[in-house]
Amino acid sequence: MVVTFLLIFLYFAVAVTVALTVLLYVFQCDLLYAAGFPAGSRSTVAKPSQYGLPDKEVVLMTKDGVKIRSYVMIQRGEEVAIQSPTILWFHSHTGNMGHRLPIAQVFYKKFGYNVMMLSYRGYGLSEGKPNEKGINVDAQTALEYITHHPILRHTKLIAFGQSLGGAVALNLVSKNEDKFAALIIENTFLSMTLLIPHALPALRHLVYLCHQTWRSYKAIQNIHRIPMLFLSSLKDELVPPAHMAKLYDTSHTSGVKIWKEFENGTHNDTCMQPGYFEAIAEFGRDNVWDLSDDEKN
Ligand SMILES: *[C@@H]1O[C@H](CO)[C@@H](O)[C@H](O)[C@H]1NC(C)=O
Ligand SMILES: *[C@@H]1O[C@H](CO)[C@@H](O)[C@H](O)[C@H]1NC(C)=O
Repeated sequence: MVVTFLLIFLYFAVAVTVALTVLLYVFQCDLLYAAGFPAGSRSTVAKPSQYGLPDKEVVLMTKDGVKIRSYVMIQRGEEVAIQSPTILWFHSHTGNMGHRLPIAQVFYKKFGYNVMMLSYRGYGLSEGKPNEKGINVDAQTALEYITHHPILRHTKLIAFGQSLGGAVALNLVSKNEDKFAALIIENTFLSMTLLIPHALPALRHLVYLCHQTWRSYKAIQNIHRIPMLFLSSLKDELVPPAHMAKLYDTSHTSGVKIWKEFENGTHNDTCMQPGYFEAIAEFGRDNVWDLSDDEKN
């Protein structure tokens, strides 16, 4: 009797463990890609005109047949636009491109950059579901749009990624370095596998189930030439700042490497820290704008 009971209990425990493991394996994308946060992110996307920016939405078709939404904000006047650097913006694991328009506004209006941003598949009003492979396809699709665009293809291109977007940017640049003039990453991680024990401690023993690996520590080693800016919030509660420091150390680009830390910054308020936009402006001025153009002005 007791033996039967124990056996049933054992079967039950095994079944629950297997079920949880399967669920975690299958649903980890929903866990990692928080496209529904903040509430309404999948139904409402702010428009550039709300921030006084040109309202140009471009629907990109990826090679695997997913329609993703992007904003392409080009400086007025073809000659001006061609001389201006272009920022290709990759957002973090929450929200959509609309949430980053206040930052785009500074780049566009104050710095005079062209700006392209996208909502990854499964984010904002883009179709599909997010996963590592697909998001990397989305990024490549945006790059191809730029390299075929009559104006943007002549401009100096800067990849910019926050958090998960940093991993997207590193992967894209590592595969297309000849297309880029510079790279900026903010509060991003070495790899998802190395991040999970900190970000989701309850799952630390299940890291082997992680199939969304985002191996940025590898991608960064394939970037050989372009200047890089590392923006790191020292009070980041999600990604330990040590990840950024290690990425900085790991990078052996022959271009300039600039480290900028924010002592009071947390994971998603870095742009509100003193010196944030100044650091980016200075990096762009020293490394991306054509110096001979500046002398003419
Ligand atoms: C960080 O916060 C502390 C305490 O509020 C303040 O004294 C310090 O000046 C801040 N540092 C920066 C760089 O803003
Ligand atoms: C940013 O982080 C804070 C604290 O971690 C959180 O309350 C807030 O909702 C986050 N905002 C977004 C857009 O993720």
